[in-house]
Amino acid sequence: MRYNKLVPHFNMSNIVVLGAQWGDEGKGKIVDLFSERFDVVARYQGGHNAGHTVRIGDKKFILKLIPSGILRPGKQAVIGNGLVIDPAALIDEIEALETLGIDVRSQLAVSNRAHVIFPFHRIVEKIAESRPDRVAIGTTSRGIGPCYEDKVGRRGIRIGEFVDPESFACLYGYLAEDKQALARAFGIDEPVDLQAIRQQYAQLAERIRPMVCDTAALLNNAIGSGKRVLFEGAQGTMLDIDHGTYPFVTSSSAAAGGVCTGAGVPPTKIHGVLGVSKAYITRVGGGPFPTEAKDEMGERIRKVGNEYGAVTGRPRRCGWFDVPLLRYTAMVNGFDSLVITKLDVLDELDDIPVCTAYRVDGRESLEMPATRRGVEAIEPVFERLPGWRTRTAGVTRYEDLPVRARNYLRFLQDRTGVEIGCISTGPERDQTIVMPGSKLEKLLG
Ligand code: GDP
Ligand code: IMO
Ligand code: MG
Repeated sequence: MRYNKLVPHFNMSNIVVLGAQWGDEGKGKIVDLFSERFDVVARYQGGHNAGHTVRIGDKKFILKLIPSGILRPGKQAVIGNGLVIDPAALIDEIEALETLGIDVRSQLAVSNRAHVIFPFHRIVEKIAESRPDRVAIGTTSRGIGPCYEDKVGRRGIRIGEFVDPESFACLYGYLAEDKQALARAFGIDEPVDLQAIRQQYAQLAERIRPMVCDTAALLNNAIGSGKRVLFEGAQGTMLDIDHGTYPFVTSSSAAAGGVCTGAGVPPTKIHGVLGVSKAYITRVGGGPFPTEAKDEMGERIRKVGNEYGAVTGRPRRCGWFDVPLLRYTAMVNGFDSLVITKLDVLDELDDIPVCTAYRVDGRESLEMPATRRGVEAIEPVFERLPGWRTRTAGVTRYEDLPVRARNYLRFLQDRTGVEIGCISTGPERDQTIVMPGSKLEKLLG
């Protein structure tokens, strides 16, 4: 027996990059950019509800389950235990990337403790979303929620069992019976050929097996040998199952705490947390949205920012930067630094509203209410900042930004209380400003 692998190696270099709002903040671009400095890029929660867009020259990649780091040759990409995986979606994504010349199979490791999404999870979700007595969440219809329900209900099937034919046959039988009983109880007679699903999924299991391993061990060994890991969040903190606008959330731990449970890496090995936020804010799906711009300004942002879902194509709801919300997500994640994306989308505006406080029951507050009614009751207090009406798209040096754009960023930094360490001025890798001397620059190393 060898013990030396467990001796901790001291390095200050593993970071989390995650969404500070309701998702789609531009995490894909930022993870792709920063991953150059890391050896491993790991996802820790969610599934193919995520849509992370990376633009490299004339190529556009949309990563769903696979970490954005896969686009850099030789980097190890990890799908951690906290994810829910639809094997058909995973194979589709692998094949799509392979046709674009990415050597996915040699770079990707899939956790044997992640859970499997089956077609009946999507059916259960459809039923839940269309029940007349329930408010629809407006999910991505990928079976994410019902799969996490089975995980927490202790009847789910994990990848390790999925790729073991004997275990799979046995566990699938139990799970299928469970779903049939549920369908009977609700009087649903949607035809589902459970045997056909079993056969199809058994074939998919064969294709996934070579990539399956204990990714917690892989990650901890990598860290122990001095390698650097970047953890890539999906969704955003306001969609986190605990900290988001429940029940209008996803079913996983998108906030920084999710890294420990979803990757099997202890908090003592995480050295920095970066929050990604748009210079404004968007949301897809239902739920309260205090700073939503329901007028033609909202439409203008949607048009200029091309705010349509990367996965579902749904128009994103657009609104103004929300300081109390950002202060709240900074609190629960402990952001060391912020990345502000899509500054260029605001280039044409005469003035830009920023929500600086919430008015609740006539009193101004910076606190995020915990209840649904509390969030719905928020009246945003806006301050209007002058727009710069100058093109910032593609600017790569802070000094080259117009003064009013710099004032806008400084205002966000002062009010949120978090350093702005990086500014994105376009979807391409090189359309980025990293602030010299910032904490973010130090964390990138
Ligand atoms: P993610 O889910 O957080 O990775 O974000 P999405 O990929 O769903 O949405 C962000 C969109 O904005 C993508 O189409 C990106 O290519 C694009 N994008 C990212 N950063 C910028 C930026 O600074 N400016 C502009 N104009 N687009 C950006
Ligand atoms: P990325 O990683 C934005 C939203 C859905 C819905 C809610 C629950 O690209 O930022 P689910 O299918 O997860 O049960 O849906 O969460 N949602 C996202 N919104 N970006 C995402 O991912 C999202 N993933 C889920 O629209 O409101
Ligand atoms: Mg997205």
